[in-house]
Amino acid sequence: MSAFSERVAERSAVVGVIGQGYVGLPLALVFCEAGLRVIGFDVDPGKVAALSRGTSYIKHIGPERVAQALRGGRYAATADFDRLRECDAVLICVPTPLGPHREPDNSYIHSTAREVARRLRPGQLVVLESTTYPGTTDEEVLPLLRESGLECPRDFLLAFSPEREDPGRRDHTTRTIPKIVGGVNAESTEAAVALYSAALERVVAVSSSRVAESSKLLENVFRSVNIALVNELKTIFDRMGIDVWEVIRAAETKPFGFMAFYPGPGLGGHCIPLDPFYLAWKAAEHGEWARFIELAGEVNTRMPRYVVDKAAEALNTEGKAVNGARVLVLGLAYKANVDDDRESPSYEILELLRDRGAKVDYCDPLFPTTRRGRKHDLGLQSVPCEAAAFAAYDAVVVSTAHDLFKKAELFLGVKLVVDTRNLLAPLFPAGGGPRVVKA
Ligand SMILES: NC(=O)c1ccc[n+]([C@@H]2O[C@H](COP(=O)([O-])OP(=O)(O)OC[C@H]3O[C@@H](n4cnc5c(N)ncnc54)[C@H](O)[C@@H]3O)[C@@H](O)[C@H]2O)c1
Repeated sequence: MSAFSERVAERSAVVGVIGQGYVGLPLALVFCEAGLRVIGFDVDPGKVAALSRGTSYIKHIGPERVAQALRGGRYAATADFDRLRECDAVLICVPTPLGPHREPDNSYIHSTAREVARRLRPGQLVVLESTTYPGTTDEEVLPLLRESGLECPRDFLLAFSPEREDPGRRDHTTRTIPKIVGGVNAESTEAAVALYSAALERVVAVSSSRVAESSKLLENVFRSVNIALVNELKTIFDRMGIDVWEVIRAAETKPFGFMAFYPGPGLGGHCIPLDPFYLAWKAAEHGEWARFIELAGEVNTRMPRYVVDKAAEALNTEGKAVNGARVLVLGLAYKANVDDDRESPSYEILELLRDRGAKVDYCDPLFPTTRRGRKHDLGLQSVPCEAAAFAAYDAVVVSTAHDLFKKAELFLGVKLVVDTRNLLAPLFPAGGGPRVVKA
């Protein structure tokens, strides 16, 4: 057994997790809960302060887990990167966004690798967890770490392990989701397997960091393409007067060979709208076109506009123009029951409606105000989640199917609902209720 694996086995290894966001924080906690000491690094002093007080700033990660880790003396949050020297393993969970032309932005990975290289010491294992294109770990991170003068695997070890976190999911957790690891060499894979096996139920070793990077992209491309397929079928069936939701319900009774995906107002979140384009960009370097990825991107990106067109049509049949209509969008989160609004199509729907002259508002108790982002700055406040508030609008557009919206009485005074999530049908199984247009 290597010295690294021995330190892990006896729980004396210290794990550093860089980036205490949706991915890094639960990962840090799961190592604490397995009895290892963890230092959580973040450049955001607000997050470091909140975590150091024992509070969680992410709704689905209970503050009691952070407080428990702090009380046990196994967790510390810091912005002091010199503390990387205390760590036996350094896991990198920083953002990998897209630039304005949908090109990968690996600048967070590069700057973090430089910070690590400045403090790298013999015996350390570095694992990249941020989603990225194949080759990032061995072609980009490895050379940056070697600037320290140390060599891999002689002095340090390096692997990639994709994060498969699904915020808000209860049936699978960070601890139970199988963890794929691939090192830049066999020694690195072995060390990474030893580390993750200490805290997670199942670790799956693959032959290289590139396979590990690619497996994550396959998972996300699979979702993006299938969501696009069902979104396209929605528009086709709608023209034919067929309800796509009923079609899916029927198809999913097949016990094999079919997996249900559901249409919606467009893609959101940190992964599906962004990650496939990392692969498309890298494919071009190899003279290949990622046509499925581009097509799925095109179909999914068009969805908010489709929803707004359907809302305009529906208002028109009520004798109303969009210009001057009062429209309420339900849900700012990109998916149900999470306080995560990154890349949420609700923002674009609100903006498109406003561009056409509608007086827009939104309701999402998980977000008291809209966030000022790279693309949008709406400056709105959530209206109360009450029937009286909803009844004041000419149309209500359901963008997110939060459980707290699943109450028939909320919609009793509403004239028109444009429903992208099939939220209303189960609330009024015998009919009645407002006029509903599925979009
Ligand atoms: N959110 C998900 O569901 C999810 C799932 C799987 C994979 N991923 C991937 O994991 C990575 C992280 O995503 P996330 O959702 O946790 O992002 P996030 O924005 O929630 O968290 C990233 C954290 O890193 C911090 N940070 C930024 N630059 C830093 C730096 N130089 N040093 C230290 N900290 C820094 C930020 O302050 C933030 O707290 C991305 O590559 C993403 O694609 C995300």
